[in-house]
Amino acid sequence: MDSDTRILITGANGQIGTVLTQRLRQKYGTQNVIATDIRPPQKEFEGPFELLDVLDAQRFEQVAGDYGVRQIYHLAAILSAKGEEQPLRTWEINMRGLFHAFEAGLKVGIDRMFFPSSIAAFGPDSPKVETPQKAYRAPLTVYGISKTAGENWMKYYHQRYGLDLRSVRYPGIIGYQSMPGGGTTDYAIDIFHQALQKGSYTCFLKADTRLPMMYMDDAIRATLELMEAPAEAIRIRTSYNIAGVNFTPAELAAEIQKHLPDFTIHYEPDFRQQIAEGWPQSIDDSAARRDWGWQAEYDLAKMTEDMLQHLALTC
Ligand code: SER
Repeated sequence: MDSDTRILITGANGQIGTVLTQRLRQKYGTQNVIATDIRPPQKEFEGPFELLDVLDAQRFEQVAGDYGVRQIYHLAAILSAKGEEQPLRTWEINMRGLFHAFEAGLKVGIDRMFFPSSIAAFGPDSPKVETPQKAYRAPLTVYGISKTAGENWMKYYHQRYGLDLRSVRYPGIIGYQSMPGGGTTDYAIDIFHQALQKGSYTCFLKADTRLPMMYMDDAIRATLELMEAPAEAIRIRTSYNIAGVNFTPAELAAEIQKHLPDFTIHYEPDFRQQIAEGWPQSIDDSAARRDWGWQAEYDLAKMTEDMLQHLALTC
C-alpha cells in the first residue's frame, strides 16, 4: 500500500472499530485514516473524524470523495441480540449501509474494501463442530441473515464490478480496549469487568454453551493480514472462516478463578441462549490458513491473563 493511501472506517467508535482505527493509524499514519461513526467519539483522539450515518448515501460518497479514500473498512452494523428488537431496522442499516459502501467505493474508485461477516452467518442446521468454510447456512437472527446476504453481495460486486472485496467471519471478539454493544458473545467481555469490580457475574447463557471466540489482537491481525494479502491469494470472495479459541462460560469462569479464586458465577439464561444455540461451537479455518497464512496466537489461558492484567490497571 502507498504511504499516502487514505482509509475510511465506518463504525469507528464500535468495539472493533475503536481498536482497528488505532492500529491502522499506527501503521499507515494518523492523517491517512478517516474515522467515521453516527456518533461523535467518547474520548478525544487525534486524527480525522467525520460524522457519518451509513444510510446517507450522498454523505458517504462525499466523505469518501473529499478525502480521496482508497480503502474502506465498513464495520457499522447492528449486532445479533440488539438486532432482534427491531428486525427491519437492523436489515435496513446492515444492508443499505453495505450497498452505500459499495457504491461510494465504485464512485471514488477504491482499491480494496473490508466487510466483517460473523459466525452468526451459520444457523442451527450447519454442522456445529469444526464448522466447515462451505457449510450450509440458514441463520435464525436478522443479523445473521444480513451477514449471509452481505457475503453474497460481496462476491457479486467483486465479480460484476471487479472491486477487490475481502471478508472474514469473526467469532465473538474479546478485548480490554473497548466495550461491545448488543451481541450474544458480549458476556465474555463483561465477565472480566464484573469479576474485577464485583467478584461475581450473572451470565445470560447456560454454563455449557460453547462458542467460537477470538482475542482482539488476533482479530485485528487477521483483518490486516487479509487486507495486505496479494489479490491473487484471495480465493474466497464471500467470507473466510477464522478460528481463535472456543470455550463455555463455565470454562472461562474456571480460567478466571485461577487468577481470582473468590470469583463466582451464576447463570440466568435469557433469549440470547437460543441465538447462541443456533451458532457453531468451533470453526474450521483451513481455507484462511491455506490462502493467506492465518494462524491465531492466543489460547484461553493467554487471553485471560492478558485481559485481567490490562483491566486491573483501569479498575
Ligand atoms: N459478536 C457478535 C454477536 O454476538 C457475533 O458476530 O452478535
